[in-house]
Amino acid sequence: MDRFEICGGTTLNGVVKVPCAKNSYLAILAACVLSSGEVYLHNCPKFDDIEKMLQILSSLGCRVKREENILILNCSQINNCVIPKELAKKIRSSIFLLGPILGRLKKAVVTYPGGCDIGSRPIDLHLKGLKYLNVKITEKFGLIECDASSLMGENVHLDYPSVGATENIMMAAVLAKGVTKIFNAAKEPEIVDLQNFINKMGGKIYGAGTDTITIIGVDKLSSVEYTPIPDRIIAGTYLLATASCGGDVTIKNVEYEHIYSLITKLKYSGYDLNLKGDTIRLVSKGPKNAFGSIETLPYPGFPTDLQPQGLVLQTVSNGTTIIRENLFETRFKHVPELIKMGANIITRDRMSIVTGVKKLYGAEVYCSDLRAGAALTIAGMIAEGKTILNDVHNIDRGYESLEEVFNSLGANIKRF
Ligand code: EPZ
Repeated sequence: MDRFEICGGTTLNGVVKVPCAKNSYLAILAACVLSSGEVYLHNCPKFDDIEKMLQILSSLGCRVKREENILILNCSQINNCVIPKELAKKIRSSIFLLGPILGRLKKAVVTYPGGCDIGSRPIDLHLKGLKYLNVKITEKFGLIECDASSLMGENVHLDYPSVGATENIMMAAVLAKGVTKIFNAAKEPEIVDLQNFINKMGGKIYGAGTDTITIIGVDKLSSVEYTPIPDRIIAGTYLLATASCGGDVTIKNVEYEHIYSLITKLKYSGYDLNLKGDTIRLVSKGPKNAFGSIETLPYPGFPTDLQPQGLVLQTVSNGTTIIRENLFETRFKHVPELIKMGANIITRDRMSIVTGVKKLYGAEVYCSDLRAGAALTIAGMIAEGKTILNDVHNIDRGYESLEEVFNSLGANIKRF
């Protein structure tokens, strides 16, 4: 059951609701380690990466319960500071646990994390930031051993506004003695969400969403009940699918200022978008003018996680678009698959030039990572004929039954 059979040529019509953000939930789950009380997290989506994170938390001694879509976690009795290698290697967010474990237990042993195969995914900024906070780190035999017995708040400057490194250092600093300032911090909405979650537990963090974040160390964090923000990447995926296939779709539970970079491009290309409260309605008779350019950048720039889905729309738009992927060095693995479907794309290093064609044709294709999988699903829906998409387990990492969502809007996708 790891393939999709997609019969293309359908439009999308109806109403769809966006779940909570994967990249918020994963960071917040790591932050639960900091709490000595009960944590209630609402609207937990069924993403494979979240399941893996819960397995890691349980291995550390956290008590994890699920009641419907509410997660109840209690990390007050954590007693293990070693993240199991076989679990850590499966997800990028396993490295986010380093900071909170050091905050609580003052020592940790982790291995290099896994994650989508979109680049080398180094963790040098994470480790350098923790060393600023007086964490002693030794790396041998592929293991990273950390001693935070003299953890201390300090000024940290990030060479690059890394999302994960910002989150890791924030969480390590929450229970440290003294004050920490992170300069050149990432500004993603998920970082603001993490700040709000930790402050609701009694933390003292200020400035998330700007490039300077201040964390004042506290002794203890208490219980909390929280609902993370909506997933802006899933919202953007649905918008790009509707623009590509044509139709009339209303997307609920969206914070549209989180994807303004995409919304302005869609409007500029002539798509009919109606923003109202937490809802966006897009009416499209099919692809229109090409975007012209896509530069992926840290927030609030165009999100790298929407680059594959945005590229698919360009393959059938009127005109040419130059796409530069500035964050990850090998995030064009969906391009050869789209060329098999008749797309006109030239790729050199981190740049792709896409010239719109009349139509794509169904083919057998492979998805290499989460967002490439979502993009190829959209390509299958707009193509003439049948597409077989392999390795769809990659899509399940960050979408809940994507085929069922699109089928509820009129698509024809079978998982087999
Ligand atoms: C987070 O990954 C997201 N994952 C990614 O989403 C997202 O693409 C990325 O942020 C950028 O927005 C989660 O939150 C779980 P980074 P992260 O550190 O933290 C370089 C998805 O599809 N870098 O901001 O790993 C790195 O190589 C996933 O949901 C270093 O050089 O991203 C990259 O070029 C994919 N050294 C750039 O920074 C480091 O120590 C951005 O990476 C860390 C990062």
